[in-house]
Amino acid sequence: MQRIPIYQPSLSGREKEYVLDCLDSNWISSKGDYIERFEAGFRERVQVRHAATVCNGTVALHLALVALGMGPGDEIIVPTLTYIASVNAIAYTGATPVFVDSLRDTWQMDPADVRRKITPRTRAIMAVHLYGHPCEMQALGDIAREHGLFLVEDCAEAIGSLYQGKPVGGFGHIATFSFYGNKTITTGEGGMVVTNDQTLYERCVHFKGQGLAAHRQYWHDVVGYNYRMTNICAAIGLAQLDQVDEFIARKRQVAAWYREGLAGLGVESHGEHGDVLNTHWMCSILARDATQRDALRAHLEADGIETRPLFYPVHTMPMYSAKFQRHVVAEELGWRGINLPSWPGLTREQVMQVCESIRTCLHAEKMAGLMPLAPALRVPRALAATAAAAH
Ligand SMILES: Cc1ncc(COP(=O)(O)O)c(C=O)c1O
Repeated sequence: MQRIPIYQPSLSGREKEYVLDCLDSNWISSKGDYIERFEAGFRERVQVRHAATVCNGTVALHLALVALGMGPGDEIIVPTLTYIASVNAIAYTGATPVFVDSLRDTWQMDPADVRRKITPRTRAIMAVHLYGHPCEMQALGDIAREHGLFLVEDCAEAIGSLYQGKPVGGFGHIATFSFYGNKTITTGEGGMVVTNDQTLYERCVHFKGQGLAAHRQYWHDVVGYNYRMTNICAAIGLAQLDQVDEFIARKRQVAAWYREGLAGLGVESHGEHGDVLNTHWMCSILARDATQRDALRAHLEADGIETRPLFYPVHTMPMYSAKFQRHVVAEELGWRGINLPSWPGLTREQVMQVCESIRTCLHAEKMAGLMPLAPALRVPRALAATAAAAH
């Protein structure tokens, strides 16, 4: 049986042609046409005035916060249910991450909890459009305006997602994207910072290029960084950007196939709530509880299907758990969630194979519950498969 990975990039456009062009022309470092072309195409796609390429999505976030002047003593409100990079980028600046819980339906940061967490030190809200579903941008924008806070969007997982018909990335003061290999478009490693504010853009360009002064060579007037993207990565990015709408359409089709295949199984899928378009970076489901989640993952693994757990809430991780906190929705989602194979090239047959594996596992569990078996027979399927192979 063919193994189904959780993700794989699709590089069947003009990626190779563009990369060979970089090699043939010797423009392989962080200057060259593809950088400008990728940034220009990105500005147009995300409908923003400025875009600056960087070497990954984590430094994109750091750069955005540096451009906003975040530092020690500042508090930045961030969902606890996110990838670690959102929170680490805050820590890099010396600012303090302040965690908020998630909404039960969208799995995005809860605006009511954001309001509760505002203090005189709050400087910014970081909205993370998790798994491709947009956050409540109307409510978050209102809160930011009311309290004079910066609004940062982490769009690493959400290129092309729409909120009230408008692409994410243009709602706040500054936004970031990731082009890691498992993202909707990839450059291998890569990222982008976008903004409609000329000054913020200039600060990003200044800081990402070692803080080089404008009119004197080898003269640096701030402690900057080397966060630049190479022309080769931008070449891949440009070829990927040409295909982004096709990737999104295919990912939405994959999500629809999962809904169809899982119907009637009592498994909850991550959906689409409100006037939004979810690009379904990951197609995720919730098991009944952590025990069932782990059994399901083991069962799928034994069937050659790769999965991931949802992100664990960051407030539970050692370096961020000094103060005891509870975020009950994020904790519930984090402990029950599974990401299923989600790449755009998946066929209907493969998606149905995943659904069938889930169905078999849940059916076996149900039967075990109805007919109490001798404990020795209640071996999780993964273990049973290993045992069988060993004999
Ligand atoms: C929500 C979120 N933020 C930030 C990042 C960081 O991006 P990168 O892996 O490109 O550094 C990622 C992804 O990997 C992410 O999922």
